[in-house]
Formats: sequence, structure tokens, C-alpha cells
Amino acid sequence: MQPRNVGGTPVVGSPTMLVIFGATGDLSQRKLIPALFHLFAAGYLPQAFQIVGVSRRDIGDAGYQSLAREVLLPFSLGKESELEQFLTHLTYLAADFSKPESYERLSDHLIAVEGTMGQCANKLFYLAVPPASYETIFRELADSGLTIPCSDETGWTRVLVEKPFGNDNETAQKLDALLGLLFKEDQIFRIDHYLAKEALQDVLMFRFSNALFEPVWNSEYIDHVEIKLYESARVSGRGSFYDGVGALRDVGQNHALQMLALIAMENPGMFSAERIREARAHVLGHVAPLDTADVVRGQYDGYRIEEGVGPDSMTETYFRIKLSLESERWRGVPFYLESGKALAESKTEITVHFKAPKDCLCDMPGHDHGNVITFRIQPNEGITVLFWARRSGFAPGLEPKQLSFSYRDESAPLVRIPDAYERVLYDAVMGDQILFTSTDEVMAAWRIITPILELWKNEPLHAYEAGNAGPKIER
Ligand code: BG6
Repeated sequence: MQPRNVGGTPVVGSPTMLVIFGATGDLSQRKLIPALFHLFAAGYLPQAFQIVGVSRRDIGDAGYQSLAREVLLPFSLGKESELEQFLTHLTYLAADFSKPESYERLSDHLIAVEGTMGQCANKLFYLAVPPASYETIFRELADSGLTIPCSDETGWTRVLVEKPFGNDNETAQKLDALLGLLFKEDQIFRIDHYLAKEALQDVLMFRFSNALFEPVWNSEYIDHVEIKLYESARVSGRGSFYDGVGALRDVGQNHALQMLALIAMENPGMFSAERIREARAHVLGHVAPLDTADVVRGQYDGYRIEEGVGPDSMTETYFRIKLSLESERWRGVPFYLESGKALAESKTEITVHFKAPKDCLCDMPGHDHGNVITFRIQPNEGITVLFWARRSGFAPGLEPKQLSFSYRDESAPLVRIPDAYERVLYDAVMGDQILFTSTDEVMAAWRIITPILELWKNEPLHAYEAGNAGPKIER
């Protein structure tokens, strides 16, 4: 399997425009603008690159540039001239996404910007807007002709869609059918930014580039797997989006299930988007049906008084589900997926717990002596392998030891790990869909999640204290 060619060489692609719908919103300001600046400063954007912000607020080019300057100040120390140069690539259009005439104005704006680039540019349309606007924007983009490439050879067009992609099986299917009608699959980039996290990309490399681990990656040797996505933050400021969505749809349907897919998938055989996406979808398509004993949901105390949240809200801010896979490799191995807001700590990790060896030379009865591999997705990105070694001295015995690797260790304290959104934007420009979810993956994920949402409607919603480990219930 060959790694992709994204190493140290900056790209020089053909002229490209990125149109951001929702340009003044939280995602755009917090993630997209910094990611674009880092790519720009490192030379990873095409030389002719223009960013066109579209939002309702009437702030003009200068207002948009000064918003961006403010956001970028903390990242641009020592890079002041790059910052000023970067800002010259930003223009802005105040427009209401729901009105057809906005797309005529957008078309005029893009033609004008394209004029400054000297030739037909590729166009990326990024929907950084609430999901309720997706359908209108998709339709208007297609109807207005904005997504028609300039020719067969130049000026490709692509749409980038944020999650949540639908609300359940039915709505996701409807949205996907519409997308499929308006665009070709190679134009559609469905974002799950977890796939683009550095340490998560390493799971495949670790599994399939080392002879040590893959032979034992199955139910004969593995006891269970835990996938944890803990957040200490509350829903702060996002209550009106979050309420009614809940933790399972917000991070379970996408991030947690994609982690499961990567840890459990079969070797795709080659590094191609088609094969890797197929292999991920295959895992998600083989999750066994669950029953109520497999699911727990909770809500932190104080959630109902968050801004934008209903006083009787039954939305979960925590879930723990036990899944199993119907496959030869994984028969009988439970996968626990757990996530919550307002927990004691923020960490995302996958731990693979091995069974104790058969005929173990273990000296402590009752102790399982299993090995554990931990993929630390964040913080302190890296991998730890726990194993057992002889305790030195005359008293017999074993003790746990660790082999640990960190992306940021003492030998490389200044290594900057690119943010997932840098990867998302870079790959979208390059047309690489490996880290984007396919229609099959999205639909398979909803087929797992929708029955759980049904299943737990009549189950208790356990309260838990903010800042703790989640609901205190028998596990
Ligand atoms: C987003 C969810 O997709 O992922 C948020 O909507 C969550 O609720 C976030 O906080 C977590 O992402 P990260 O990159 O901060 O771990």
C-alpha cells in the first residue's frame, strides 16, 4: 500500500476559488480561515487562489478582511507580511442564501473575481451553514448553473458539505438523493473532520504497515474495543443547534462510527478513495442489531438552562452504546462507543484490549494480563502499547510496561500538527476523497443510529453531574 503523495512539496494547482456560504459564522471564523491561512503560509494553496465569503451581514470586502485579520492575529506572529498578502485574496458578498437573485449576484461576483485571475477558475462551494439551508443552496447552485464546469478540461466544481447530513435514515436518504440528482459523486465532498485528524489517519498505517499487529487483529486475540470521545466543554453558545440533535447524532453517527470503521475494517489493498471508502462502509454495513441493554443515554445537570435549550429538553448530552459486528473477524467482540459533553476531561482515544495469552506464564491468578493498544487521537497524539515484563529482582512477578510514541515528543517539540480542517481543505482542492464520507457510509451510519434513537425513546435519560464521568449506572 503506497502512502499518498502529500509530503513536503507545496502544491501548485490551477486557479481555484473557494466560496464559503456562512462566511461570518462560527465554523468559518474558528476553523476555516485559520486553516486556509496556514495552508497559504506553507505554500499549499494554488498560486491563484481566491476566497469569496458569502453571508447575510453587509460588511463588504474590507469588513470581511478585518474580521479575518482579527481571527488570525494569534497565528500570524512573525508572519505579518504573509497575513497581509493572505487578506488580499479575500472578497465578500452580502447575500441571502434563500433568494434566487442572490445566486445571480454571486455569479456576477465570481465572474469579476475570475477576471482578476485571468482564466476560468475551479470552484469549491463550502456549506458552512445550518443544515436547514442545505437543500435550498444545493438547488440554487445547480439551477443557477454555478456548478457547471467551464469545460471538460478546466474549471472543475465541487461542493463541500458539513455534518449533520440529515437527521435520521429518511431525511439523510432524501438529502442524498437530491445531491445525487444535482451533482456527480466525484463533485461531492461530505466532511467528517475526524477522518482528517492526523492521529486517526495513522490507525490504518499502524495496522497495515506493521507485521506485528494485523495477525492478531481479530476475535481470537482481542477481547473488546473502546472508542471514547470525551469533552469537558458544555454546549455553550450552541444550545439552539444542539437541542433536538443530541450527542448521538452530533458525534456518534459520524465521528465515533468512523473511528470504529477504521479500527475494524479489512485491508483495502490499495490507497484509493474507492477502496478505502468501500472498506469503511462495509464495516458500518455489518453492525448487528442492538437491544435496550446495549444503550445508555444521559444529560448533564444544568443543560436545560443553557441558552437555546428547552426547559423540558430530553436531548441526550451523553451516550454509551455497545455494538458488535457480524463478521468472521469480529464475532463476539464488543465495541463500546462513548461520548459526552461536560465530562471530567477532554480526550479522544481508541483502546484495543487483548485477551490474556493462552497458557500464560502469568503468576498472578485472577489478573488478566491482557495487552492494550491505545490510539490517542487528542490531546497528546500518539500510540501506546501496554505489555507485561518480568519484575526485576528476586521476587517473581510481572509488571505492566509501556511502549509509547508521541507526535510531539522531546525530540520534536516544535512539530506543528496540522488542524483537521487544513487537511479537509487541502484534499478538497486536490480532489482526494479518501477522507470524505461516501453516500454508502453515510447511509450505513444512519441505519445504525436511527434504530437506537427509536429504541431509547422509552428508556430513562440519566442525569449526571457536570464535570464528572457521566451517568453513574451499572455497566
Ligand atoms: C463537532 C460537534 O462535529 O465535533 C461538536 O458538532 C464537537 O459538538 C466537535 O464538540 C468535536 O470536534 P473536535 O475536533 O473539537 O474534537
